[in-house]
Amino acid sequence: MTLLHDPVTRTQAYFAGTWHALPRTFEVRHPGTLESLGAVADCGPDDARHAIDAAERAFTGWRAVTPHGRGEILHRWNGLLLAHREALARLMTLEMGKPITETRGEVDYAAGFVRWYAEEAGRLGGERLPSRAAHKRAMTAQEPVGIVYAVTPWNFPAGMITRKAAPALAAGCVMILKPAEQSPMTALYLAELWLEAGGPPDTLQVLPASDAAAFTAPLMEDLRVRKLTFTGSTAVGRLLYGQAARTIKRASLELGGHAPFLVFADADLERAAAEVVASKFRNAGQTCVSTNRVYVQREVAQPFTEILTRLTAALTLGDPLLDSTHVGPLVEQASLDKIGRQVEDALARGARATVGGGVRDGLYFQPTVLADVAPDSLIMREETFGPVAPVTTFGTEEEALALANASEYGLAAYAYTRDLGRAWRLADRLEYGIVGINDGLPTAGAPDAPFGGVKNSGIGREGGRWGMEEYLSTKFISMGIG
Ligand code: SIN
Repeated sequence: MTLLHDPVTRTQAYFAGTWHALPRTFEVRHPGTLESLGAVADCGPDDARHAIDAAERAFTGWRAVTPHGRGEILHRWNGLLLAHREALARLMTLEMGKPITETRGEVDYAAGFVRWYAEEAGRLGGERLPSRAAHKRAMTAQEPVGIVYAVTPWNFPAGMITRKAAPALAAGCVMILKPAEQSPMTALYLAELWLEAGGPPDTLQVLPASDAAAFTAPLMEDLRVRKLTFTGSTAVGRLLYGQAARTIKRASLELGGHAPFLVFADADLERAAAEVVASKFRNAGQTCVSTNRVYVQREVAQPFTEILTRLTAALTLGDPLLDSTHVGPLVEQASLDKIGRQVEDALARGARATVGGGVRDGLYFQPTVLADVAPDSLIMREETFGPVAPVTTFGTEEEALALANASEYGLAAYAYTRDLGRAWRLADRLEYGIVGINDGLPTAGAPDAPFGGVKNSGIGREGGRWGMEEYLSTKFISMGIG
């Protein structure tokens, strides 16, 4: 099977009103086999400048379309995403190796945001305020912030785009999007469907680029670009946040995570272990909200680890294009190297692998459970982004909370307990943007939920009404009535 020129692939950039095949290209490879999928147009700083000029023109027209009219186009986009479900799922699996059963679910997830914001568009409005002066009337209006620069990751090539683009477009903003180098084709496919749905030219421009820093510079310097939205590493987020400060752009940053999963002795151990597996091994662990460290109350550590080991051993590692596969390859060699280093470090500090523990071949890392992990191991501090579940123990609730909160990150945390009082105490005291109590997948399939973190996990929220507010600015209008 040759994957080059597979009918689902896309290679031309979309900006300034047209599709561009550029002289400079970069290769996109399927991580399952490292075969080439095609050479994608590689945009540079001049292309970014053209995109800003085009976005400025498009914004004038798009903000004038009624919110209801914008919602209608979003509704059609949602319909097209679902109609192209199989092709989009295949393309995502080819680009970044997520198992096909999961990428089908991701198309539904991505379309869910589009549908939710299609409906939300028509609810935009303002408020009438009581004025302190009898001769004045006061009100607020919600206005689109303007041109948005979005930088999206490869781990959810469609979902992380629509979670940003749908509220931005519904609000009346226009977007310039730089997709991850590993998954630009999915982004181009989404732009194609947006235009087919009736999205006006240049309201959603997609410019793949291999030199992110050079491409991004003109966008960050330009005062006309009013908002940055980024999902990716904390290191890059910090850099972009600094650059955004120069022109006081609004910023939403969805950065790294290091989710703790607490299992108390009173928990349903079978269910808790199944949810660790679901949270840890989906997308081969390459999810910001994936469980990164498992803390189990000492008296149930042995039975819990046995269940977790059994469930993990039952996962099929293999070709992500097959329906029978649970865990696919990692996206690139650097991920494999990092995971290997973390596992070696944990083993050297006394941990043992109860299942898995190493590389199979190519970019495939075996689904792994590590028991007796020393709390100061690298894997208990550094984001893993891979299929390894390190387990360690705690004694008391206070100790569990202290361990869970001792992190620079604050994206998602999970806890399993049947004690109602404890459940509330944990929900209150876990220092995270998302807390799942007896729920290892709190944001799955939930376009209406606020997604985002605290501390070094970022600022702002995506999803629900909070996601829309990120793209709106409040104007105060005071009117003298004589
Ligand atoms: C992420 O990894 O940032 C996205 C996870 C999700 O939406 O469930």
